[in-house]
Order: sequence, then structure tokens, then C-alpha cells
Amino acid sequence: MDCMSEQTIALVTGANKGIGYEIAVGLGALGWSVGVGARDEERRESAVQKLRAAGADAFGVPLDVTDDASVAAAARLVEEHAGRLDVLVNNAGVTGGTGQLPTTVDLEAVRTAVETNVIGVIRVTNAMLPLLRRSASPRIVNMSSSVGSLTLQTRPDATGPISAAYAPSKTFLNGVTVQYARELRDTNILINAACPGFCATDLNGFRGVRTPEQGAAIAIQLATLPDDGPSGAFFDDAGVVPW
Ligand SMILES: NC(=O)c1ccc[n+]([C@@H]2O[C@H](COP(=O)([O-])OP(=O)(O)OC[C@H]3O[C@@H](n4cnc5c(N)ncnc54)[C@H](OP(=O)(O)O)[C@@H]3O)[C@@H](O)[C@H]2O)c1
Repeated sequence: MDCMSEQTIALVTGANKGIGYEIAVGLGALGWSVGVGARDEERRESAVQKLRAAGADAFGVPLDVTDDASVAAAARLVEEHAGRLDVLVNNAGVTGGTGQLPTTVDLEAVRTAVETNVIGVIRVTNAMLPLLRRSASPRIVNMSSSVGSLTLQTRPDATGPISAAYAPSKTFLNGVTVQYARELRDTNILINAACPGFCATDLNGFRGVRTPEQGAAIAIQLATLPDDGPSGAFFDDAGVVPW
């Protein structure tokens, strides 16, 4: 354990593929030590090896955001590895499956989306907070989506499928982000929500029009905010996203 290390320590959840992997690439390129949070051992180790081959200081963190014991063990691992955490990127997310029209949705889809995209974020954040509080400049980034914006969803040109699970789970996540920012207002912790844009990943059958690397950029920006940066806000590459 080395609490005094100058190297910035980050943890990215769901970092074995997609946007999360590219966030790990970007933070690794800054010379940071990056924890690759992932639930599957093979996928996690293969991502860690790829990151190390590219020169990043990556370490594997077994982590299922829906599992209390797994998240508690992940916090212990980060503590043993680095003694503190500077940046947490809550990136892991699921859609909950197809067919999410509110009138016919399978309730299991709603539960799955909320369990991972909202409760998972709260579970991981609260487990990591004691380690984040030891940092000089703690940052938390919650990977949200513009489909969680009620302002954008109520416009005639609303995008994304009509959804009673995925989109509202991101609205819920945005709400939770604001409440954390309120509670943490008098600390040095900055917490914001990010929208990566529509990126080609497993999440959408690779139908997205942006690359995962492009999607990672806003999370990297929010992970590297200066001490007087914003908190409790929602951003994409173009700036503030309306709630
Ligand atoms: N792609 C887009 O266009 C888009 C747009 C807006 C927002 N987002 C958000 O961006 C984030 C990343 O999505 P992506 O597009 O990169 O999707 P992706 O390629 O499907 O990656 C999702 C990641 O989350 C992990 N994950 C899912 N459930 C988990 C759990 N219970 N515990 C730990 N890890 C878990 C996955 O791990 P496994 O490999 O083990 O499944 C994977 O690493 C998500 O929060 C998503 O909602 C994406």
C-alpha cells in the first residue's frame, strides 16, 4: 500500500470492452494506474494484457456491480494495491434487452437495467468513497446517456427506442448524480454524468455511428477536471446536456 504515490489511481467499471476499455486506454496514456473493473476473468485479463502491451499501467479488478460481496472485495483490492482512489468511472451498463415499450415491457428488463445502471453505480460509489476521500482531487464520472434526458425525450425529434427500462434508468442515474453532488458539495469530490454519444459497441449491436474511443473522450475530460471544475452536471462532447 502506498497512499503517498504521486501516480493517479483510477478505476473504470466495465472496462473489458467498448467505451470502458477506451476510457482505460485514455487514462493509461496519461501515465495513470488504471484498474480494469470487469466481472469475467478471461475478458478482464485479456483487457489488462492488451492495455499493458500498449504501455498502460493496468491492473485487474474483479467486479460485478450487481454483487455486494464482489464490490466490497474490489474496494479491498484497490486499497491493497494503491491505498486510495483518485478517479472512479462508473461505466458498466446494460440495456436490459430489446422490446421495452412501456405497455408491454418485461418487468425483468426494468429490474435489470435499474439494478446495473443505477443501484450498481450507488453500490460501487459508496464502496469506493472511503478510498476517494483519501485523494487530493477525487473525481467520479457516471456514464449516462442523452436518452436519459427528459428534455430531449419530450422533443418531437427524440432519439433512441421508446423505452421503459434503459432510458429511464439513465434518467434515474442522472438524478442520483445530482443528489451525490448535493451531499458532497462541501468536499473536494466532483461528480458528473457523461453522455458518450451513439457509439458502435456490443450494447447496440455495433449500430452506433461513433467509435468507442470518441465516446470515451468526455469521460476522460470529466476524470481530469481541475479542482474548480463543475459538479452535479451532465456533459457530452458539445457541452452541457439538458436534464
Ligand atoms: N454505446 C453507446 O452508444 C452508448 C450511448 C450512451 C451511453 N452508453 C453507456 O456507456 C457505457 C458503456 O457502454 P458500451 O456501449 O461500451 O457497452 P458494452 O460494450 O456493452 O460494455 C458494457 C460494459 O459493462 C460491463 N457490465 C455490464 N454489466 C456489468 C456488471 N453487472 N458488472 C460489471 N460490469 C458489467 C460489460 O461487461 P461484460 O463484458 O462482462 O458484459 C462491459 O464491460 C454504458 O453505461 C452505456 O449505457 C453507451
